[in-house]
Amino acid sequence: MEIAGNRASESPPHLCPRPPTLASSPLHFIDTDRVIGGHCHCELSARLCQLPGLPVFCNMDMAIQGVENEAFGFLVKQGAEARVFKSTFVGRLSIVKERFSKKYRHPLLDSKLTVKRLNMEVRCMTKARRLGVPTPVLYAVDPILHTLTFEYVDGLSVKEILLDFGLNGIVEEQLNDIAIQIGTAMGKMHDGGLIHGDLTTSNMIIRGETNHLVLIDFGLSFTSTIPEDKAVDLYVLERALLSMHSSCGNVMMYMLVVLPVQMEKILSAYRKSSKQWSSTMNKLAQVRQRGRKRTMVG
Ligand SMILES: Nc1ncnc2c1ncn2[C@@H]1O[C@H](COP(=O)(O)OP(=O)(O)O)[C@@H](O)[C@H]1O
Ligand SMILES: [Mg+2]
Repeated sequence: MEIAGNRASESPPHLCPRPPTLASSPLHFIDTDRVIGGHCHCELSARLCQLPGLPVFCNMDMAIQGVENEAFGFLVKQGAEARVFKSTFVGRLSIVKERFSKKYRHPLLDSKLTVKRLNMEVRCMTKARRLGVPTPVLYAVDPILHTLTFEYVDGLSVKEILLDFGLNGIVEEQLNDIAIQIGTAMGKMHDGGLIHGDLTTSNMIIRGETNHLVLIDFGLSFTSTIPEDKAVDLYVLERALLSMHSSCGNVMMYMLVVLPVQMEKILSAYRKSSKQWSSTMNKLAQVRQRGRKRTMVG
């Protein structure tokens, strides 16, 4: 990661350029592209490096900048667990995801749980990237302010693309290509023992420049090799695709053309990408059946 005159190689993580002056500089800089290992050995950094096992790069200049800039940017989404802002990070467009505290929890417990979730999201995203699944580059982790800073991925979500189908000249070829990318990415992820946990079409962005898929939002991700967990992951996506018809301008077109082709293409790419596809598909059939029964009863 090279950031505005701060080459990672010029400031190795074990050599902090100067002693820390700001007691609350909490940023961790993580480069998932080049994976810089090690921890800062200065007093502050020892306190800061609270995410064990993660490649951490801590640069005091950037940390101080981050603390001074307390406004995160433009609010993109206010969710139940987190606020997401569009911002800039050392001159680059970025996304800041802030997990906020739950007032009903004891502050200490709340902070511990929030850091745990933050940590989990980072680990899962890093793991996905290692498995060859495209994710945004992670720029920084702040365990005190409970924020993650990512590369801003410029493009439309798969949801937006599907909803636009037929309206803005999005051709079937592009949809097929997207479906193949989704299936391939999920196969890699599942074979590596990683479950996304929230595979909706909003959590998939197609980069405008390259048309490449990027998976985001690993906030509910976890590691598992159990076929049932993989099947549920696929089922969540299937339901998400199905539920989109209500917001689609051309419902018939969506239900008859987009949906069946999409899911079929996704699963066919998944089968090619995953060595363990057979056990997952068997489970998927069972999960679907359970889902149907539940819909009929409830
Ligand atoms: N790296 C990113 N690049 C561009 N947009 C993003 C990025 N990360 C998140 N977003 C936008 O913010 C929204 C919410 O982020 P997400 O991580 O999915 O949080 P939540 O857990 O609240 O769904 C996404 O649906 C997307 O529109
Ligand atoms: Mg999301």
